[in-house]
Amino acid sequence: MITNAQSGTRVDEIADGIYRINTPVRIDAIPGGFNFGQYLIVDDEPLLFHTGLRRMFPLVQEAVSKIMPVERLRYIGLSHFEADEFGAMNEFLAAAPSSVPLSSDIGALVSVNDVADRPGRGLANGEQFSIGKHQLQWIYTPHVPHGWDCGVLFDITTKTLLCGDLFTQGGTDCAPLTESDILGPSELFRKPLDYFAHSVGTTPILESLAALQPTTLACMHGSAFRGDGSALLRGLADVLEREQQAAQ
Ligand SMILES: [Fe+2]
Ligand SMILES: [Fe+2]
Repeated sequence: MITNAQSGTRVDEIADGIYRINTPVRIDAIPGGFNFGQYLIVDDEPLLFHTGLRRMFPLVQEAVSKIMPVERLRYIGLSHFEADEFGAMNEFLAAAPSSVPLSSDIGALVSVNDVADRPGRGLANGEQFSIGKHQLQWIYTPHVPHGWDCGVLFDITTKTLLCGDLFTQGGTDCAPLTESDILGPSELFRKPLDYFAHSVGTTPILESLAALQPTTLACMHGSAFRGDGSALLRGLADVLEREQQAAQ
């Protein structure tokens, strides 16, 4: 469903109760353009994972409102502190009076609890919580792909991994959900704009995500993927490791 004809913002349900919101953008630095995504989990305590850029707030708010009243939001989550993940946090906290930020405990400590207008809930690695029908788990992924505070959210109920910047794909017309390979397209994007920190913990962290056996990868930029998420995560770990060895 296109929710804003001018920007091309659209909303698509990519797993049971999980909606992908995506806005294409033209950026001079990125040939072919880019796109910014958020995921909304509709439940008793609805959760929006990522806010979009601060200037994108009207578009994301409009998209959420086509699915449910924005004021019902309970959690505004972020994988790591950066403008496209957090930029419109205070606008959302104002629009949804019962909502709180949700991040890693490190994220709450070093950024979120200072910049956000209300204190956030910081999650420990492996911590599980329920928002109604959906049982969620926080996985701390420091520096993968980037940010000391970085983590991802796994919906145990639908086996959907809200994987943030992992598998970032450029372009302005990505399919909402694909069963085709996304590792190749995301590697094409990463070549000129390598956004990975390449920390020593990268391989074990990607392996811990693969062990969750996700069947949907909810990428923040580009298409969401349905299929064998573990194979893709292990494929990514292999590519990064080979690159690291070649550099030594
Ligand atoms: Fe990022
Ligand atoms: Fe991002």
